[in-house]
Amino acid sequence: MDSVDRRSFIKTVAGAAALAAGDFDARAAESGGPVFLSTWEHGKPANDRAAEVFKSGASLLDAIEKGINVPENDPNVMSVGYGGLPNEEGMVELDAAIMDGTRHRAGAVASLHNIKNPISVARQVLEKTKHTTMAGEGAFRFALRTGFKPEQLLTPESLKRWLEWKAKPERETFWLSASNHDTIGMVGTDGRGHVVSGCSTSGLAWKIPGRVGDSPLVGCGVYADDNVGAASATGDGDLMTNYCTSISIVHYMARGMSPQDACAALLQHVADSDPANRAGFVCVIAISNKGEVGAASMNSKFRLKYALWRDGQSQLLDSVVLY
Ligand code: GLY
Repeated sequence: MDSVDRRSFIKTVAGAAALAAGDFDARAAESGGPVFLSTWEHGKPANDRAAEVFKSGASLLDAIEKGINVPENDPNVMSVGYGGLPNEEGMVELDAAIMDGTRHRAGAVASLHNIKNPISVARQVLEKTKHTTMAGEGAFRFALRTGFKPEQLLTPESLKRWLEWKAKPERETFWLSASNHDTIGMVGTDGRGHVVSGCSTSGLAWKIPGRVGDSPLVGCGVYADDNVGAASATGDGDLMTNYCTSISIVHYMARGMSPQDACAALLQHVADSDPANRAGFVCVIAISNKGEVGAASMNSKFRLKYALWRDGQSQLLDSVVLY
């Protein structure tokens, strides 16, 4: 398929998805209720918790933080928080960020160790400091000072997987190439034009110690602006960081694109700038300040399943795929 045909195809597929979502969106706009949109299967219980917290009267920031805590606390989610797969030295290093679209401010932590809930530490950075991003030992000491308890984040299963990887003479390392993993990204609106974006991950399994992915970087893993909307990303952070994924999507939306078209446009830009990126692991989600949503994946090998909570309905859906 040549690029012109592909563009029409993407427009058609994205347009069909947008149309299908359109009725739903129109109803949501009327109801003005909250909407939560998250990456992967683990996004569904995260959305459900976010909705529950929001309905109890808490803020949208609280809802997104508490929603993201769900996969962080789940030892079976091996790409986020407790039980996340470690770096090549066997240490779990976590990245997270949360951005408030009203204040246009974020809090973030990178390479945080021994703290189960990096999104909550990121929230403390946002609420209790004039800083935006804290990393490594400083982030760990900040977490202790703000009341978090140090914990062993390796589970018997993640330790077993690390030992198996270490035992392989021909094991893959990031001195050469990359492999697969999943992040929790969540965007939401309160139904009154306020948006928040949050993201939390243990990053790439067996990464080189100190490696920071896109998740804790403002504009990459998270971006939120009440004037437009919010976005988040999951996939190969070493690739996506170079495209400032989330802010780029929000800027496409600011120029009039729907969240769905903005997600597709960003992926098309990444693919056009280097055809090798068509095989990359790049998946994105976005929400407008009116509650319209979008989600897209670069290719069918890494197809994003995303979770949508709206009007009390909690769904798991397949994203649009470009290649
Ligand atoms: N997208 C998460 C990471 O690459 O660490």
